[in-house]
Amino acid sequence: MLVLGIESSCDETGIALYHPDRGIVAHSLYSQVKLHAQYGGVVPELASRDHIRKISPLIQETLQKGGYTMAQLEGIAFTKGPGLMGALMVGAATGRSLGLALGIPTIGVHHMEGHLLAPMLEDEVPAFPFLALLVSGGHTLLVQVNALGDYQVLGESLDDAVGEAFDKTAKLLGLAYPGGPALAALAQQGTAERYTFPRPMTTVPGLDFSFSGLKTHVMTTWKESDQSEQTKADIAHAFETAAIDTLVKKCRRALKQTGLTRLVVAGGVGANQLLREQLATLESSNGTKTYFPRPEYCTDNGAMIAYAGYCRLAAGECEGDSFQPLARWSLESLQAPA
Ligand code: KG4
Ligand code: ZN
Repeated sequence: MLVLGIESSCDETGIALYHPDRGIVAHSLYSQVKLHAQYGGVVPELASRDHIRKISPLIQETLQKGGYTMAQLEGIAFTKGPGLMGALMVGAATGRSLGLALGIPTIGVHHMEGHLLAPMLEDEVPAFPFLALLVSGGHTLLVQVNALGDYQVLGESLDDAVGEAFDKTAKLLGLAYPGGPALAALAQQGTAERYTFPRPMTTVPGLDFSFSGLKTHVMTTWKESDQSEQTKADIAHAFETAAIDTLVKKCRRALKQTGLTRLVVAGGVGANQLLREQLATLESSNGTKTYFPRPEYCTDNGAMIAYAGYCRLAAGECEGDSFQPLARWSLESLQAPA
């Protein structure tokens, strides 16, 4: 079954083709970063309009790259939510109408389920059950994944998502949008140990997170400092170390609590090098096997939607005639295919 995947939940138009025998045969990504940079964040209305401009040419380009024609498609998957409503509607309307025109089944995919299953596209596939750390611009979740569609959220952020904290901290330090990768790059120039920031909620029991206090800590430290370039890098270093250390501590706790031995990391912050290095040490310290998607499948992409959609279509699920994109949609409300 050749499945076309369409991702349009935020500021990236991602298109991919997945075939069970060949894997991802082609994928294309158009990022709106330049469009939103001048505003310092995503402008929803501009995002929708840009998805409209890019989606059809990108589908054509991806089919061409994979050596397929539209008529060879056997299923369509689009991101149904959560995300920006206007942006979601572009992908949903495109996917559903293409499906109707071609007479093939269409499925609406949960964006976070896409992220969660992205490591399955790598050579080493994690077996169920596993613990997943989902870290993006909108979510920070620790999830026990028992099977496709059987998800139990063990912990989540009570305020800012970790990616959002990276982005806001970067903005505060005057770094260009999008801030996460820029902050991580600057942190490499920082001096270790000059500042030590708190690891929020690590001294209380439980698996929830809170990152807004860390951001405030950065603001106070920056305002009271000499505001030199070196100080900026030192603060970036302290912030990144504290945020990543917090994530690692909670992963360690969740692994102990659940007895799970496999850890999957997904979402945009999964591209962070320090996080990857720190979690890799779990392998040597307690034998946990860690799985990461390649960095381009960590951030938003069409490949993860094509794959998650394939899994559900292959199990016989499909979207009815009437469907609604969902700006908010809990991961736990998903069900395993019948
Ligand atoms: O999953 P994603 O592409 O989009 C959402 O669904 O939110 O994640 C984007 C988030 C942004 O907050 C971005 O700053 C962050 O991931 N991010 C990073 C890195 N690369 C992307 N944060 C820290 N270090 C990175 N290398
Ligand atoms: Zn995402």
